[in-house]
Amino acid sequence: MRKGSGGSVFRCTDCGAEQPKWGGRCDACGAWNTLAEEPLSRTVGRSDSKRTASLERPPVRLSELGAPGVERWPTGLRELDFVLGGGIVPGSVVLVGGEPGIGKSTLLLQCAAHLERAGVSTLYVSGEESPEQVRLRAERLAVDAGAVHVLGETRLEAITHHARVLGTRVVFVDSIQTTYTDDLEGAPGNVGQVRECTARLLRLAKEAGPAVLLVGHVTKGGGIAGPKTLEHIVDTVLYFEGEAGGTLDHRILRAVKNRFGSVDEIGVFEMTGTGLTAVADPAAAFLAGRTTGVSGSAVTALMEGTRPLLVEVQALAARSGYGTPQRVATGLDHRRLAVLLAVLERRGNLPFGERDVFVNVTGGVRLLEPSTDLAVVAALVSSVHDRPLPADAIFLGEVGLGGEIRPVTGLERRLSEAVRQGFRRAFLSTRSRVSLPGGGLEVVGMDGIGDLARRLAA
Ligand code: TYD
Ligand code: MG
Repeated sequence: MRKGSGGSVFRCTDCGAEQPKWGGRCDACGAWNTLAEEPLSRTVGRSDSKRTASLERPPVRLSELGAPGVERWPTGLRELDFVLGGGIVPGSVVLVGGEPGIGKSTLLLQCAAHLERAGVSTLYVSGEESPEQVRLRAERLAVDAGAVHVLGETRLEAITHHARVLGTRVVFVDSIQTTYTDDLEGAPGNVGQVRECTARLLRLAKEAGPAVLLVGHVTKGGGIAGPKTLEHIVDTVLYFEGEAGGTLDHRILRAVKNRFGSVDEIGVFEMTGTGLTAVADPAAAFLAGRTTGVSGSAVTALMEGTRPLLVEVQALAARSGYGTPQRVATGLDHRRLAVLLAVLERRGNLPFGERDVFVNVTGGVRLLEPSTDLAVVAALVSSVHDRPLPADAIFLGEVGLGGEIRPVTGLERRLSEAVRQGFRRAFLSTRSRVSLPGGGLEVVGMDGIGDLARRLAA
């Protein structure tokens, strides 16, 4: 067993807890393989500044405090404003996480350009690219970013100095992983540095009043010193995701924490040659390019926050050559797929035991709600029989272990959106209460997946 010798400690990259010794498992949160070594912090001077800071702000009565900041700066990017809850709140700290190459720098530079045009001063700190590279990026954008102040700097003390001197109202730090403070010995990017730099930027925001937007990289595996450890420090956490280089080039911006707005709202962007643009009709964005008349494709409607989103589920069930059949799920939990396959096998008499099964949700969307079970099951059944499902049908239902099909919540919102997008048939649980004004939708009620299998085979 390794031991932190000569002034190093081990910190959990999930929960941030500090341990004196290395172990396979974090004692604090129970996560496995998350302890990373980092040098002991040199905390000289910090306690002093903390002491004076706390003396500067004596306690006040709640009644003496004004109403909390209702002021917001709209960013000029419709979908970003929607996810933030109306714009950037002064003095707030927002973390934008995402895999490298997904478009975080582009999003923030566009945001800075729009803010400048609206008269809100900005400072874009780039630790990953030189100011010249940032300028090259800016030249591609449809919006003029000429007024944005750019600073090529990774040292935190310099960043906060310039932000204070300029009196900037929104500071962008790209990225938190390249930023370091002189007060810690560890290399930029280690958990200690990342946490300390974030805490100090938070202090800058609360003391001097600028909003701070941080870029944080996450790797596919969650990554060392990933933004996960920062989520409880900052006010708002947004994740930028999507299929980089996919045919649609759509990006989803998702709020997972928001002290100034609701969570679970998503914004949908498209990466174009001139930067990110808000998708005109987010609900239908992921159906663009759908092929109809092919077996194994089913459409369902997710609720993303308050917005319905139509997505296509594709399944391919092919006879396996030899050995254990493969199960590959993209955008769907593989355990959920295993459950649905077992239910289909036992309750629907469909032979998946000898088939490879591939399920894919298009556009990089993830199916997290059980209400999408029926679409997965329908796509699988359609693939086994090699019979396309009706192109104008939408599938909404949860599938139970007994093979029963259960009603879903928010049905009206989902169906209204489907009708708006031209869908004319809805496969639902017979127990669903449908009260759609205007009609225009044929409801196909089903009790269990036996019903579904019979209907699709007929
Ligand atoms: P970037 O913002 O650098 O991603 P991140 O900061 O998350 O690493 O985006 C990188 C990709 O976006 C890159 O592949 C180029 C592409 N891109 C466009 O397609 N259009 C554009 O206008 C810009 C600026 C970038
Ligand atoms: Mg970047």
